[in-house]
Amino acid sequence: MEQDFDANKCKCGNCKKDKFLEDLFNTYLPEKDNLIQMLNEIQEHYGYVPMDVQKQLSEYLNVPMAEIYGVVTFYSRFSLKPKGKYNVSVCLGTACFVKGSQKIMDRLQEKLGIKPGETTKDGLFSIEETRCVGACGLAPVFTINGEVYGKATVQKLDQVIDELMKEKS
Ligand code: FES
Repeated sequence: MEQDFDANKCKCGNCKKDKFLEDLFNTYLPEKDNLIQMLNEIQEHYGYVPMDVQKQLSEYLNVPMAEIYGVVTFYSRFSLKPKGKYNVSVCLGTACFVKGSQKIMDRLQEKLGIKPGETTKDGLFSIEETRCVGACGLAPVFTINGEVYGKATVQKLDQVIDELMKEKS
């Protein structure tokens, strides 16, 4: 006799698909064209694109893992690791670079003790570099969770980060 199977009660770890993924797979047809949009939703929901989710997506869309991984690593909006509560992104595009954005990046790394692509142990900050955020007139520029800080200086960066650090204490 066939028994009712409930994936959420299964303890093997492979059967368990969380509710978010179930809904996602119910919303999108298993077509390759949906890959980017689905990745956007995954990034938004988890704050990054976990490997096991890439695997499930690969099976669902019938797209090789290598291709999905390639897309995730190509676009800076996708991340393989969880980002911090505050994702600080320094623009190293030409306009910002010539106005000294590397100094801002150096200071940020020194201040937080992490490198681009990393997250502080307390989960508060992560750092990344971007190429151009379309605000060249305000160069040099950094962003925090997408909010643009233009005409940036090391002092301004210090001030903004210090303010956010106060949350810890
Ligand atoms: S180069 Fe930095 S905003 Fe365009």
